[in-house]
Amino acid sequence: MESNSFKDKVVLISGGMGDIGQAVALEFGKMGAKIGISDIRDPTTAAAKLSLMDNLGVAYRYDQVDVSNADEVEGWIQDVEGQWGHVDIAIVNAATVTLKDVQEITAKEWEREIQVNLNGSFFMANAACRSFVKKKVAGNIVFLGSWAAHAPHTNIPAYSVSKAALRMLCKTMALSYAEKGIRVNEIAPGYVNAGLSKEVWDKDPYSASQARDRVPVGKLIEADEVAKQVLWLCDPSNRHTTGSTLLMDGGLSLLRTK
Ligand SMILES: NC(=O)c1ccc[n+]([C@@H]2O[C@H](COP(=O)([O-])OP(=O)(O)OC[C@H]3O[C@@H](n4cnc5c(N)ncnc54)[C@H](O)[C@@H]3O)[C@@H](O)[C@H]2O)c1
Repeated sequence: MESNSFKDKVVLISGGMGDIGQAVALEFGKMGAKIGISDIRDPTTAAAKLSLMDNLGVAYRYDQVDVSNADEVEGWIQDVEGQWGHVDIAIVNAATVTLKDVQEITAKEWEREIQVNLNGSFFMANAACRSFVKKKVAGNIVFLGSWAAHAPHTNIPAYSVSKAALRMLCKTMALSYAEKGIRVNEIAPGYVNAGLSKEVWDKDPYSASQARDRVPVGKLIEADEVAKQVLWLCDPSNRHTTGSTLLMDGGLSLLRTK
């Protein structure tokens, strides 16, 4: 990867207050990119986390955006274009998870999860692609997918369904925008020792050790390891990679799920 590939590139990250979003923002920031971070969290909650970016001297802006609202997403991208001229990269990262099987999950919970994880991802990725086309930018989209897309996960049904659909959205958009030089890819981590998984494991440390034991390579993934692979997917040297899924699950998907 070229060390100056991302200097002055404008990168959007949704769900950027989350652990993986933060790690991605920091990696791009270290490379000299300008970062448009958004999250559903209000700016006062976000301020403490964003001080890390200040300490590193990263150029960034923070916007409170609910990705499930297409107008808010559109407005965010227009504001970033207004400040920095155009957008080069969009990391579609915001997501939520409900730990209930299909017999327990309510219609409202199901709808919300699909609205955020799938529809919200579409709103952001498509608005970013339209911006790339308008500004004649050979841009990059990376979706934060999951290994949970590959087989039924009965404890997180809406999540795994949303991530499976996201995979097809990635391929569909990759094909639609390929002739414009736009690349669309997905990264599919397994158990990351951060964010959505860590929240569950912190409540039940035994489940964390069980998770680690289940991973064939015997290790949980750290957020900065995911971030580095996200940058790799966006690197210009990867110009032939589009519509692909970069699976980084330590072999989890090779196992049978119950
Ligand atoms: N942690 C893992 O083990 C793991 C594994 C595979 C994939 N992923 C994926 O990585 C991505 C980041 O997850 P994470 O683990 O960092 O979780 P996280 O909870 O730390 O981050 C998710 C962020 O999304 C934000 N968000 C939620 N709903 C939103 C909405 N409607 N609009 C805008 N922002 C919203 C949250 O406020 C949060 O800051 C997700 O797409 C997740 O599915 C995580």
